[in-house]
Amino acid sequence: MIFYFSATGNSKYVAERVAAATDDHLVFLPDAIRARVYRYDVSRESRIGFVTPTYFFGLPSILHFFLEKLELTGYTDQYVYLVLTCGAATGDAAGQLGKLLKAKGVTLSAQFGVPMVDNYVPLGKLEDREAMEKKLEEAEEYIDEARRAIRARGIGDYNRCQGAAPGARTAALYPLYAHGRSTKPFVVTDACLGCGLCQEICPCGAIALTGGKPVWSKKQCVQCLACLHRCPAGAIRWKKASEANGRYYNPKVGGSAKQVE
Ligand SMILES: Cc1cc2nc3c(=O)[nH]c(=O)nc-3n(C[C@H](O)[C@H](O)[C@H](O)COP(=O)(O)O)c2cc1C
Repeated sequence: MIFYFSATGNSKYVAERVAAATDDHLVFLPDAIRARVYRYDVSRESRIGFVTPTYFFGLPSILHFFLEKLELTGYTDQYVYLVLTCGAATGDAAGQLGKLLKAKGVTLSAQFGVPMVDNYVPLGKLEDREAMEKKLEEAEEYIDEARRAIRARGIGDYNRCQGAAPGARTAALYPLYAHGRSTKPFVVTDACLGCGLCQEICPCGAIALTGGKPVWSKKQCVQCLACLHRCPAGAIRWKKASEANGRYYNPKVGGSAKQVE
């Protein structure tokens, strides 16, 4: 069983590649939360995986939300792993998952990191297309390494993307995520078609179409930026309407309206 979260496809791609190697079932966290399914029978599972992007050198808030409620019935020391995708560095995001699991009597057996395209456009422009393609190509080696180790139930720290001083970085920068999660800076331009995709894909139900346009009804969201990156009209921006730092969706994932731009 693989629990995963993804906004712009990187972690979805990784979760699907790992699932193909282990023949495991995928659970997309926003679907599980919408359906209020928090209890999973893992008695017949030999591996339990978590695949997620890194946010502020820690875990997306949706992981904390889900893990606080999660019940793994039939857990008997199965192999439990975490794969973090990131733009550059994961910090000690795995330490956060380790603690959340430990509180449930579950041990994290291994962690992996996969550097991919950085989708955090509030900080600056996306890399150019060539750089993105190169990065996604280079990520394959990390994904293959994770697939091999997970198949073999390799235990330990395989994460080559933690960066310098991971614990200190997470401790210093993760608290800033609380500000990042404010929905105030989202702006909708006149290009909005009123299609409602943003409302549909928001993992925490923070968007409601009002008068045919998206309105953020919650003060905080996951800040996953799925609404911004996947808007078919490119109408959702962060802060000033003039700031367009590009939009991204992993081009190796099928089924999305958006590709790399
Ligand atoms: C709110 C937010 C915070 C982020 N923080 C980090 C970070 O601390 N370190 C990093 O390397 N990448 C960071 N990123 C980039 C993502 O981790 C990276 O692009 C990830 O692969 C996106 O996964 P997805 O396509 O599955 O949504 C951040 C992205 C977002 C949206």
